[in-house]
Amino acid sequence: MTTKLRCIVADSYGELSQIGADAVEAAIKADPNVSVLVATGNTPMGLYQELARRRANGAFDASHVRVFQLDEYLGLEPEDRRSLFGWTRRSFVDPLGIPLENVTRLAPDAGDLEAACRAYDAAIKSAGGLDLAILGLGPNGHLGFNEPPADAHAPTRVVDLTIESIESNAQYWGGRDVVPRVAMTAGMDVILGARQTLLVVSGSHKRDVLERTVAGAVTPDVPASYLQLASDVIVLADRDAWGAMPQPR
Ligand code: F6R
Repeated sequence: MTTKLRCIVADSYGELSQIGADAVEAAIKADPNVSVLVATGNTPMGLYQELARRRANGAFDASHVRVFQLDEYLGLEPEDRRSLFGWTRRSFVDPLGIPLENVTRLAPDAGDLEAACRAYDAAIKSAGGLDLAILGLGPNGHLGFNEPPADAHAPTRVVDLTIESIESNAQYWGGRDVVPRVAMTAGMDVILGARQTLLVVSGSHKRDVLERTVAGAVTPDVPASYLQLASDVIVLADRDAWGAMPQPR
């Protein structure tokens, strides 16, 4: 197996969360105004909890961090428990003491969704671009909700979720029937434009898609494989996800 990506294999999910927190803490300390694209999903939750613990202990100040939401379902009431904005807030924004005015939302309730997508992209541009993208890996290779096949230049937009994503997201909300079918996602162009990327991957169910991401062909069928072409990417996997691939150097 050869890969151009910098890969780190953690012994456990706990170690993955520590190493991930080290990377994000370092980014915040290097630039307190850092612009961060923030994934929800299960994988980064240990990392976020560890960051919150460190921040509560005074390790760093995140009050100037700027947060950009990665994706959002359409058709939910603002207070719906399934809102990914709500999840981003509960897991990252509030525990890190980041003021809400530092958060750029995707606006699924906007009258003009296309205009809302362009406003989101413009906000990233006026922030000087993204410094760091914290991403999880979809079971079908998606990043955010850039479902396969996805063009590398796909913009921020409204997307239909694939069956794989609906089934995978069913675990969050207790059944596939409660998973919304349509979402808004930061575009591949936004994600690939981040100056640094941290992709966190955990669990044996991600083995095949992780191998295709780091060592397979760069293809629209595995949107995460485009990371092979991005500039400063760390793939942080636990041993269960890394499987039998050779230990990275
Ligand atoms: C979440 C997101 C998704 C997840 C991915 C992996 O905001 O954009 O792309 O990162 O589906 O989810 P988990 O970590 O739950 O396996």
